[in-house]
Amino acid sequence: MRIAVIPGDGIGKEVVPAALPALTALCETFGLPLSYDVLDWGADTWLATGVGLPDGAVERLPRTYDAVLLGALGDPRIPDMAHGREILLGLRRGLDLYVNHRPVVLDSGVIDIYRENTQGLYAGVGGSVTRSGSVTVAIDESVHTRAAVEDFVRYCLRRLRDDGRRKVTLVHKSNAVPNTGRLWQDVFRRELTAFPELTGSEEYVDAFCYHLVRDPSPYEGVLVSSLFGDIISDIGAALMGGLGLAAGASVCPETHFALFEPVHGSAPDIAGKGIANPYATLMCLALMLDHFGHGAPADLLRTCVREAARGATATPDIGGHGTTDLFMDTVLTLLDHH
Ligand code: NAI
Repeated sequence: MRIAVIPGDGIGKEVVPAALPALTALCETFGLPLSYDVLDWGADTWLATGVGLPDGAVERLPRTYDAVLLGALGDPRIPDMAHGREILLGLRRGLDLYVNHRPVVLDSGVIDIYRENTQGLYAGVGGSVTRSGSVTVAIDESVHTRAAVEDFVRYCLRRLRDDGRRKVTLVHKSNAVPNTGRLWQDVFRRELTAFPELTGSEEYVDAFCYHLVRDPSPYEGVLVSSLFGDIISDIGAALMGGLGLAAGASVCPETHFALFEPVHGSAPDIAGKGIANPYATLMCLALMLDHFGHGAPADLLRTCVREAARGATATPDIGGHGTTDLFMDTVLTLLDHH
């Protein structure tokens, strides 16, 4: 595996370097080749040079690497997140990473949230009118093409079936946002007929949020467009016990290139304090190992991270008294002993 590592900003620069030794240790134990380069993309580079995503990076990355590991982007010095949008949305769109998998791991089971990553309200189509320094009209268009929704839905249904899942829920808002909602419903119903192993259901996003919080146990697979998916996966993170726990993978099924990133942001409120939870980043590494077909080290990593999270060296956000480094010491010790 050849990995481009982008720690990014804030706690990204803490959790990514902290978590990487776990990947190195696993690759040594299981005899997997691993190389990575650390790229300094993020707020500091943007402020110093004005460059977020370097020219040609989108073409270069898949030639040089198999995947990207990204910590988080976001810096109080750049309130409009211009650098973050350039890097993150540039990578997602430029590399066509249109499937965003955000598993929600609960005692009642795992909910595989699959979120479309490049279209809808995140398509970047819109504009605004400014008069006398004030924005007077602002438009963000929700753009969905049938071809992209079909590719997304078909891939996710195949993944869910292959992973032994039985139920899949389409989350939409076709009562209030009818045009795009109906496109999704139509594609979902047609594609589902090719997957008799899966039972489909459909829910309005508001009702889904309500049900998810009240009782997540009925859900197995969820298909959702970009903005709704962003919101429901944060609810999923809250159900898991906090944003420090939720991992995600953005994949282009055609090229197999993937970007792994925690769901959380750069957490400026705790950056520099040494208490950021590396759990989500470690789970990203497990997703990465899975993605490259290395299920055994992925499962071992998950087992050790969960065991460490139950102990006293867990970070404060999940009830422990530890630090990023102490938690990682426990994870590495457990990996060593298994
Ligand atoms: P955030 O996810 O950074 O933080 C929300 C809360 O969760 C904070 O109280 C934070 O301390 C806590 N938290 C998050 N991750 C944690 C971890 N690993 N360990 C312990 N506690 C953790 O969201 P927020 O504050 O809304 O955004 C901060 C910056 O990050 C903003 O600039 C935002 O635009 C950016 N952002 C970037 C994302 C990305 O790079 N994919 C995603 C979400 C936000």
